[in-house]
Amino acid sequence: MNTLNVDIQSIKQFIGPDDIEKLSIDLIIHHHDLLAGTGAGNDFTGWVKLPSSTPQSLLDDVNEQALQLKNNSDVVVVVGIGGSYLGARAVIEALQHTFAPMLPAFRRPGPLILFAGNNISEDYHAHLIEVLHKVNWSLVVISKSGTTTEPAIAFRLLRQELIKKYSIGEARKRIVAITDKSRGALKSLANAEGYKTYDIPDDVGGRYSVLTPVGLLPIAVAGFDINQLIRGAAAMEHISAASHLPEKSPAALYAAARNALYRKGMLIEIMVNYQPNLVFFTEWWKQLYGESEGKMQRGIFPAGVSFTADLHSMGQYLQEGLRAIFETVLSVNSSRSKLAVPYLDDDADGLNFVAGKRLQEVNRMAELGTLLAHVDGQVPNIRISIPEVNEYYIGSLIYFFEFACALSGYILNVNPFDQPGVEAYKKNMFALLGKPGFETEGQKLISRLKGLV
Ligand code: PA5
Repeated sequence: MNTLNVDIQSIKQFIGPDDIEKLSIDLIIHHHDLLAGTGAGNDFTGWVKLPSSTPQSLLDDVNEQALQLKNNSDVVVVVGIGGSYLGARAVIEALQHTFAPMLPAFRRPGPLILFAGNNISEDYHAHLIEVLHKVNWSLVVISKSGTTTEPAIAFRLLRQELIKKYSIGEARKRIVAITDKSRGALKSLANAEGYKTYDIPDDVGGRYSVLTPVGLLPIAVAGFDINQLIRGAAAMEHISAASHLPEKSPAALYAAARNALYRKGMLIEIMVNYQPNLVFFTEWWKQLYGESEGKMQRGIFPAGVSFTADLHSMGQYLQEGLRAIFETVLSVNSSRSKLAVPYLDDDADGLNFVAGKRLQEVNRMAELGTLLAHVDGQVPNIRISIPEVNEYYIGSLIYFFEFACALSGYILNVNPFDQPGVEAYKKNMFALLGKPGFETEGQKLISRLKGLV
């Protein structure tokens, strides 16, 4: 099929004949709420019409800025966390040559993209700085709030290194900040220092922001076609807006199917990929669904596996462990390369039965064989397929998952656009680090910790 397709055939034996049908009123209401901006968290639904309303002038500006960074850098470090990190990485890893990070010859003409600010590991950042001493590099810092601790620390460190290596003036040409249009420490700093900035729209939250400059600039710097990415997303926007009916809208079908399974006690959804270059796509999906749905003591727990590797580890659990899991298989119909299993005269390894077959075909049989085995083991499988991995279909897939996530969150009766639970660890970390204003809380936490660690 020459389009994104959602196949729920194999879940039908696990749900009642009218379980999807029962969600049709929900779909009508929530589809309307999303398009009209009348549902919970409606301040953050700007992403719904983003692909079709992205001006060509913005894409041209991003491409021009990307060219500038490409021309003067061997490495571009992208600083960000959560929604300000995972989307760009997911798309770049999906599209690039698998070994591009290791060998420049396999890269699109342009710099290596490295990421920082998504952890606070001293070794990670020290190793990164060691690398940066040896190359020409630039810095893209992304934070919607402009105050998130992890990227703020990385940016402070890396900006200092950049200024040390070049000069304040040259660093200014090598730093781009993507943040709120008026608020936050990053915006104030960028204005004061005269850095090039891009705005993250007020009505687009972090995990729904990959199709804004948050994702577009790093993706363009890595050498990929952001026009096509947006075109693919716009096509899916059109399909998703046109109908709330599961038979017409892949997003509605996926949202309804996963909720029907959840209502049958399938509390864990595992995204399965058969392509190592989609591992970070799964990470992006986990963030989108985990942060959007996991609240008010409800939500489907999103996890991920990479097959066939994980069939030799998690495969055992999936086949025979606790039965509260369903799988969503991300299937790619055709590979970009051609490679067949060679024929051996003596068939010493007994593999001649697959000689001449493309690896893609062997992988497909692994996928279908696993699907049958897991369904036999009482693990329902939803199958989402795209014709191939390219900018257009990745754009479609991104929008599809975003729209389905919002519908699904509404079906679960949560606000899919907030993340109140993320604050708890931050408050404790600030208190333990002695941030001004948190001193009393800090003392309390230190005595509580005495009994624990
Ligand atoms: O989806 C979200 O809102 C979060 O994951 C944020 O993207 C993440 O916390 C980073 O926030 P910020 O961009 O403000 O630094």
